[in-house]
Amino acid sequence: MSSPAADPAAAGPDGARGPDTGSAAASLVGGAADARRLAADSLAAGDPTGWFETLYAASRAGNAVVPWDVAEPSARLRALDLPPGAGRRALIVGCGPGRDAEHVAALGYTTTAFDISATAIDLARERHPGSPVTYTVADLLDPRPDWRHAFDLVLESNNVQALPTGIRAAAIPAIGGFVAPGGTLIVLAAATTRIDSDGSGPPWPLTRAEIDAFAIGGLRPVSVDQVNAAGTTLPTRWQAIYRR
Ligand SMILES: C[S@@+](CC[C@H](N)C(=O)[O-])C[C@H]1O[C@@H](n2cnc3c(N)ncnc32)[C@H](O)[C@@H]1O
Repeated sequence: MSSPAADPAAAGPDGARGPDTGSAAASLVGGAADARRLAADSLAAGDPTGWFETLYAASRAGNAVVPWDVAEPSARLRALDLPPGAGRRALIVGCGPGRDAEHVAALGYTTTAFDISATAIDLARERHPGSPVTYTVADLLDPRPDWRHAFDLVLESNNVQALPTGIRAAAIPAIGGFVAPGGTLIVLAAATTRIDSDGSGPPWPLTRAEIDAFAIGGLRPVSVDQVNAAGTTLPTRWQAIYRR
């Protein structure tokens, strides 16, 4: 597998980089701080996912920066060199404004992409006029019954790492439940944070047990790799592929 170039969103809300890494990265410092502050407030209020809509809406109003909101598809996704998708259905979990969904759709997959944030879905539709992707608001923690075992390709990129550990036990099997017989699940996620980090998140890296927990309900691991994430603030990331 090739080692892709820097992927700003690979860091997710951990996007803050040193001041020596250029103006684009420097702008992420505020984004990471915005995300962490809103996440902490939301968690304290007992609403672990409410901060996503708050952050997207504040960003749209020009009052915050969404640290993972970049135009380019995930570098790790691009490096996977997926096969053509004609005749196959793909589901993009937590799609945000649609960068990865557009990449997968361009490969020919009939693509559905969902996010819990209505503003994120509005942004996706506005930024990609005429897109073949079906963008829709949905909650991973309340999965649609008609999506069960319905997709040949499912992408989970950078989302579970932004959920507190307490609700991952529900999120992880829900993601696997979307994969059709013979289908593939791709999981891209933080594995470690910086050694000098104070440990606060998001992101909250996935443990080995959590990445292995995707392999349930008939899903079996094809490869589970902890890869270097040079060029991002996350030293290593999980790159895992499962098949049903
Ligand atoms: C860290 S961002 C990553 C976005 C995107 N996957 C990317 O890599 O650019 C996490 C995304 O998951 C979405 N999300 C969080 N909880 C969700 C849930 N329960 N159901 C659906 N989407 C959710 C957020 O709104 C946000 O867009």
